[in-house]
Amino acid sequence: MKLLEDRIMQDGIVLPGDVLKVDQFLNHQVDPDLMMAMGKEFAKLFKDEKITKILTVESSGIAPAVFVGLQFHVPVVFARKNKSITMQNDLYSASVYSYTKKVENTIAVANKFLGENDRVLIIDDFLANGQAAEGLFKICDEAKAEIAGIGIVIEKSFQKGAELIHKRGVRLEALAKISSFDGDQVHFED
Ligand code: G4P
Ligand code: NA
Ligand code: NA
Repeated sequence: MKLLEDRIMQDGIVLPGDVLKVDQFLNHQVDPDLMMAMGKEFAKLFKDEKITKILTVESSGIAPAVFVGLQFHVPVVFARKNKSITMQNDLYSASVYSYTKKVENTIAVANKFLGENDRVLIIDDFLANGQAAEGLFKICDEAKAEIAGIGIVIEKSFQKGAELIHKRGVRLEALAKISSFDGDQVHFED
């Protein structure tokens, strides 16, 4: 998506450890016009998938996910992190290891918000190692919900998440695919 690539070129900052800082429009300050354009793009890509629910993880997945939900007119559910385990009975949960933060998080979704009649579109801001995606897959599996696909705002194609998702046979669409970082330069796949 040209609009997003241009914005990454303009405002993205490459940090050590192959991390792209995009807090100007996605991870801290949010550009609603860009989000709206991305929501429409995801809706176009997944229009034939009979989506009944959008699923993401707090916090940075919520903004793009809501704009996709707005296009499909379906509810948006975000998995919550580190909820009290005393509620365990009413939750689908998964353990997610973050390589960048070196911490294990539990993510959870209430049973009542996901079920066997759902066709789920997973949306997230970044795809790096794919641990968040794996966690959301597990939650969908537990709920017996069907996974229609996964839409990612920024995929770092050189990390192992994309391959992991392809291996599982889930349809993956990313609006920007980064093939490498070279100093402060961002290279996109063509
Ligand atoms: P993974 O989900 O693909 O396995 O990613 P990883 O564990 O490496 O990343 C952990 C967190 O860092 C995730 O956010 C993920 O979205 C984010 N992240 C990964 N790569 C980048 C990057 O290059 N730039 C930025 N800005 N974020 C990146 P999170 O921990 O779930 O936090 P949040 O959603 O509350 O922000
Ligand atoms: Na995220
Ligand atoms: Na993030």
